[in-house]
Amino acid sequence: MDPSELDVSELEQLAAERLDPLGYSYVFRGSGDEVTLADNVAAWQRLKLRPHVLRDVSAVTTATTVLGTSVGTPVLVAPTAMHRFASPDGELATARAAAAVGTLMVVSMAATFSLEEIAKVAPGAPHWQQMYMVRDRGLTRALAERTRDAGYQAIVATVDGAAVPLRRGLEGGVLVPPPDFRFPNLAPPALADSSDLIGMISETDPAMSFDDLASFGEWSGLPVVVKGVVRGDDAARCVDAGAAAIAVSNHGGRQLDGCVATADALADVVDAVGGRAEVYVDGGIRNGRDVTKALALGARAVMVGRPIVWALAAFGEDGVRGVVRRLTTDLERTMAFCGAASLDDLTRDLVTR
Ligand SMILES: Cc1cc2nc3c(=O)[nH]c(=O)nc-3n(C[C@H](O)[C@H](O)[C@H](O)COP(=O)(O)O)c2cc1C
Repeated sequence: MDPSELDVSELEQLAAERLDPLGYSYVFRGSGDEVTLADNVAAWQRLKLRPHVLRDVSAVTTATTVLGTSVGTPVLVAPTAMHRFASPDGELATARAAAAVGTLMVVSMAATFSLEEIAKVAPGAPHWQQMYMVRDRGLTRALAERTRDAGYQAIVATVDGAAVPLRRGLEGGVLVPPPDFRFPNLAPPALADSSDLIGMISETDPAMSFDDLASFGEWSGLPVVVKGVVRGDDAARCVDAGAAAIAVSNHGGRQLDGCVATADALADVVDAVGGRAEVYVDGGIRNGRDVTKALALGARAVMVGRPIVWALAAFGEDGVRGVVRRLTTDLERTMAFCGAASLDDLTRDLVTR
């Protein structure tokens, strides 16, 4: 079976059958009452398209750039932890697939392979490294420097982790990873084989403020994407503090439950940023229509989280290639229906409530 012929919902179903119970809970579920988890998907569906007709769409292209890096599709791979739940090759398989389909992978700080190993299996492909500011600033700094040395193009600083969420389906609301998982990016070198993820995450610094954002760039010399913003006023302050891009995200409904859906938060952020930085969005994006709506509202690119992990669990590397291809061909089809030959033609008037 060619995975690119499957809808994301079909990959979701296959992944549900293939992940073990712990992996299932970790990947599929959200925090609190899972209101935000569901609303992220529903909010894209609530938006409707107002297609143009009679425009020449004989050649549709999805190529664009993100922070100056060329990509063949605006569908990027969101940072998601622990791809070993989905495949023994984990992030190595994801990275090879992302490179093959011309997209960019954001590597999680809690990846189960090191950022250097990931870069090595996909030479020449663009990578960004996601990180949290942990209490031990030396640790964060060391990771920022490794990111630069490995040739990554940007740092994605996730800022929606001010408290430890209670996740559904996990004992005590917190994941205890399998003992054989390694976290070579998260752990200090001396603890590289530790699976004490809970300890590491609780070290995320709740004292972090706008003033700390610049550190990521100073340590790495790389542009900084701030991920986890859902308000225009905060987005503007991040840009004032030097952010090169804002990723509108509520962490896929895994942090603050009851948080506004990202489809409903996006336009406010785009307006507040006013072209001073790029804006991306993730959360609940499941088909090319959702991507079209996001770009029409002003996002430069989208990131997908669970669909990538589902595809990896269902078909390994082939699955990840397939899901990105599927989302991209569906985007092309929707663009043609909307009279858009390039991503620049996706303007806000195409969307209504
Ligand atoms: C299994 C899983 C692990 C995740 N791990 C991280 C992470 O390590 N760092 C991070 O910034 N976001 C993480 N996220 C959030 C994603 O980057 C993204 O915001 C979210 O998945 C988007 O929603 P979607 O799953 O509906 O596409 C994770 C999400 C999932 C589902």
